Amino acid sequence: MSGSTSQRALNDAYEWDRFNPESYQQHNYRDLRSDDREILEIIRDHFTATAPDAPVTGIDVGAGPNLYPTLSMLPFCDDIELYEYSNSNVEWLREQIKAYDHSWDKFWGVLEQSPEYSKITDPRQRLASIARVTQGSIFDLPRRRWGMGTMFFVAESLTQDMDEFRLAVAKFAGALLPGAPFAAAFMKESHGYRVDDTAFPAVAINSSHVAQCFQGITSEVLTTEVTFEHPLRDGYDGMIVATGLISAASDLWRDDEDSAQTATARCLARSR
Ligand SMILES: C[S@@+](CC[C@H](N)C(=O)[O-])C[C@H]1O[C@@H](n2cnc3c(N)ncnc32)[C@H](O)[C@@H]1O
Repeated sequence: MSGSTSQRALNDAYEWDRFNPESYQQHNYRDLRSDDREILEIIRDHFTATAPDAPVTGIDVGAGPNLYPTLSMLPFCDDIELYEYSNSNVEWLREQIKAYDHSWDKFWGVLEQSPEYSKITDPRQRLASIARVTQGSIFDLPRRRWGMGTMFFVAESLTQDMDEFRLAVAKFAGALLPGAPFAAAFMKESHGYRVDDTAFPAVAINSSHVAQCFQGITSEVLTTEVTFEHPLRDGYDGMIVATGLISAASDLWRDDEDSAQTATARCLARSR
């Protein structure tokens, strides 16, 4: 990381291409932890209850080396974009979507306890046929494009700056169509993390920050705190899951002609 003396380093201060996907996946997702199981159950039930009858397009923003948010959208989508910024994670995802590792079977096992999911007899093949990987930044997402979406441990884990965190949440929500179901997960009170020898940032947020960010954007939002049996690492205080539907009246990025600066200022003002 450059600028390591800064109190509030921004997203572009970090070396995202040095993110080691194998190491991160091994550390975080080799085994199915009780907190991830709880999150899987929450998002499985949320999507089962709220997804439209006809298939939609889905997006997982900042997918990184985690396939379970994407797997949770599998029954409801005919196209899923895994949207990721870092070169190393993009390469990892492109390999994994062809035929993912058996370690992800445990995660699918929780999802397929619901009939909507168990209808899919070969999730590996289904993922390979409908998923694609796109490289890009969350801050460049187009508006109102996808019919459902997930964003796991991204907005609070890409910057040290609270406004940039809020903007990232707003960009995620703004990329979804009115009425779209979504699920987003956050590390609570995180002070940053390391993957191998590389340091990555975080903003120490709690459930109120998350709820505030979604205020006015979503018709319903539910935040749930998920505690751990054993911490993944030092320097955080559990996980937060937000589930909801994008409001039909959401006017977050309402004007096509709006300058990015104006839209950003409005978004930050309303989430304070
Ligand atoms: C803590 S990891 C989370 C990865 C994965 N979603 C998960 O659930 O474990 C943060 C992710 O955000 C991605 N990221 C960092 N900056 C980004 C940006 N500007 N736009 C989109 N993704 C970004 C990183 O490359 C990394 O994959």
